Amino acid sequence: MSSNALTAEQPVESIKKFKFYTKGDSEEIEISIPELLQPGYSFYSWPASSVLAWFLWIQRDKFVGKRILEIGCGTALPGILLAKLGNCAKVIISDSCTLPNALKHVHRCCAANNLEPGKDIDVIGLTWGILLKSVFDIAPLDYIIASDCFYDPSVFEDILVTVSFLLSTATDTTPVKFLFTYQDRSSDWSIEHLLQKWDLKCSKVSLSCVRKYCPLEIDDLMCGHTIHLLEITKLP
Ligand SMILES: C[S@@+](CC[C@H](N)C(=O)[O-])C[C@H]1O[C@@H](n2cnc3c(N)ncnc32)[C@H](O)[C@@H]1O
Repeated sequence: MSSNALTAEQPVESIKKFKFYTKGDSEEIEISIPELLQPGYSFYSWPASSVLAWFLWIQRDKFVGKRILEIGCGTALPGILLAKLGNCAKVIISDSCTLPNALKHVHRCCAANNLEPGKDIDVIGLTWGILLKSVFDIAPLDYIIASDCFYDPSVFEDILVTVSFLLSTATDTTPVKFLFTYQDRSSDWSIEHLLQKWDLKCSKVSLSCVRKYCPLEIDDLMCGHTIHLLEITKLP
């Protein structure tokens, strides 16, 4: 077998470590994320995932006892962090059913953090815009989370169709919210018309707690990009 064939079959893996802590507090947690040197969006932790994960860490008390679904999770830093905290009622992480290598890598990311799928965390295939029976079985949820999923306008409506359906499963006792980080890539992109079409409301969530408590400078955390935290809910 040639060395080229070996490289093609086994992409180079490197482990990125993310340490979450707060100054003056002894609690800390380290997450290991295996990243693969190969083409594809799913094998690398995008800066928006660190921003969302830091927000979840700082606000972790809010997620105790909650049921959370991460969509388009890729390496799943936010979902894995919540599962490692060990006090959510359920954490489900998902990536597209049509990307088996992405889902295989999600399992690898769980293993790197000693999380057993089916026990400590659930891993499912969920393709945006396709409402298979498995999507109907996910509710009840408290939060849907995502990082850097609005990276290509051709998928914006598919994401919002899935989110709109999941938000519509809310009840008076479980009002579901979609919390996500968005990296600005073009000022021409907008979801305004889609929000109206699918009866959704979007508002900006302040990142002031991240600015205050994250030991990293926010520009370093965002790797020089502009990243927003947004929340979408269903209009009554
Ligand atoms: C830019 S990456 C972000 C990954 C991860 N959330 C992060 O921030 O590091 C986009 C993710 O969306 C997933 N994705 C792309 N198209 C999808 C689809 N139609 N349904 C579900 N997931 C999809 C990709 O596999 C990839 O993991």
